Amino acid sequence: MERQLVVCDDLEALGRRAADLFVTLCGEAVTSQGRFSVALSGGETPKALHSQLHSESYRSRVPWSKVFVFWGDDRYVPHDHPDSNYGMARATLLDQVPIPAQNLFPVPTERKDAASAAARYQQTVKGFFDLSEGEQPRFDLMVMGMGEDGHTASLFPDTAALKSSSRVVVANYVQKLDADRITFTFSAINQAAFVVFLISGGSKALALKEVLEGPYQPDRLPSQFVQPKGGKLLFLVDRDAAARLTPRE
Ligand code: 6PG
Repeated sequence: MERQLVVCDDLEALGRRAADLFVTLCGEAVTSQGRFSVALSGGETPKALHSQLHSESYRSRVPWSKVFVFWGDDRYVPHDHPDSNYGMARATLLDQVPIPAQNLFPVPTERKDAASAAARYQQTVKGFFDLSEGEQPRFDLMVMGMGEDGHTASLFPDTAALKSSSRVVVANYVQKLDADRITFTFSAINQAAFVVFLISGGSKALALKEVLEGPYQPDRLPSQFVQPKGGKLLFLVDRDAAARLTPRE
């Protein structure tokens, strides 16, 4: 696994750098396999990427009909709920670009409970990648965020989902949020060809230092579990998030 850290001046520069990466990886994937599969993240930071991607500078550089969008995680809420990661991506990117509706694969949160939503989503992912039993999907790009507690996707410290290895997608009840989530497992995340963390703000500085420079304690800092086998890992952060990192020569 190749791990890289890039520090951008601010959130806007981070968004531009992430959009450049998206365009590059998309072009490579479409050239080599005729399509680009990407799993988006929730939260606030990815909006910096989304706003660049639908801007005049980038939107025409993406062959949207060949882009296939999944979500690395979502909250177990309706798609029109303010907390929906799918709803956020629609509002901040997907409704502004000419991507066919059939290219979007939201978590089916209309299912009766989080477990059945996760099971159904797992079937959708397996079908898209034509996976056999035990195989994991190889996304061309996984966009990840990181919480102040070191969580990523909906893989929170000391939660059951951290240990799910054979599954692609699981439901995860997060006690501290009193919320049901649906999330890719680390087994799936670590199969990706390229994983990029988008991390911004001083509130993440301590967690980022611990994740990158501290001891390996992934149950406490789940982002440490992200180690794509045969893939690339990029931490794309802004100066505020990087403030506590050991200065590099
Ligand atoms: C979610 C995300 C989550 C997010 C982090 C960071 O569903 O909220 O998947 O893992 O990436 O909480 O969120 P911010 O970008 O808002 O800091």
